[in-house]
Amino acid sequence: MVQVFSFPTSDDVAQALNTYLAQASATAIATTGRFTIAITGGSLPATASKYLKANKAVDFSKWYVFWGDERCVSHDHDDSNYKLVKEQLLDHVNVPAAQVFPINPTLIGNPEEAALDYHHQLASVFGNGGVPEFDCVLLGIGPDGHLCSLFPGFPQVKEADKWVTSIRDSPKPPPSRITLTLPVLNNAKEAVFVVTGSGKSEMFKTIVEDKDTSKPSTLVAPKSGKLYWFVDDAASQHLSAV
Ligand code: 6PG
Repeated sequence: MVQVFSFPTSDDVAQALNTYLAQASATAIATTGRFTIAITGGSLPATASKYLKANKAVDFSKWYVFWGDERCVSHDHDDSNYKLVKEQLLDHVNVPAAQVFPINPTLIGNPEEAALDYHHQLASVFGNGGVPEFDCVLLGIGPDGHLCSLFPGFPQVKEADKWVTSIRDSPKPPPSRITLTLPVLNNAKEAVFVVTGSGKSEMFKTIVEDKDTSKPSTLVAPKSGKLYWFVDDAASQHLSAV
């Protein structure tokens, strides 16, 4: 079930995401005792955290936080997705440090090793038996239709076995990154894209309506069938129907 929820403004999107994440977290914790989430970079952490960080109804002590993709930079670098999520969300809520899984900072000079290390970090929480099953993956799209660090035409998009892969020639700087792969993203219980602003409106239509499979974001199709788009009206303006 692909569902598009379009709201008048980006602030409305932030409020809706707060409601959605509080509910998804409560449901997962009631069922399994924890909430596992992967968060990507860009504008998404600010939108997702805007209201969530002050939501006292959310039991952040049961959250396990991973990154959908990470740039190979130190944790205090301005390009770090860890730093971004830390400042926007983690500094304001009580996720235990042992349940936060950033890239290993000692491996940022070697993206392939960093990706392997991230596999082991995933296995420490999800086990080695099968592909990790996140309760939620929170995703953004790039102007070229990329998601995480899976860029159109790049071999990482076709990765069928690894849970985490690396890239040294990312078209979006910085060039060295690690990223979750489509097998992991598509094994999530729920996948949620967040898109705001008119700058993404053409690409949003290309992905959701035209289903252009040359765009990696079009390839997100969780086995659970639960794929949600939280967008503002500026982003959805070119869709024929919402
Ligand atoms: C990263 C990302 C990337 C991002 C999109 C959307 O570069 O670290 O994780 O995939 O989510 O490029 O970014 P914006 O929301 O800033 O457009």
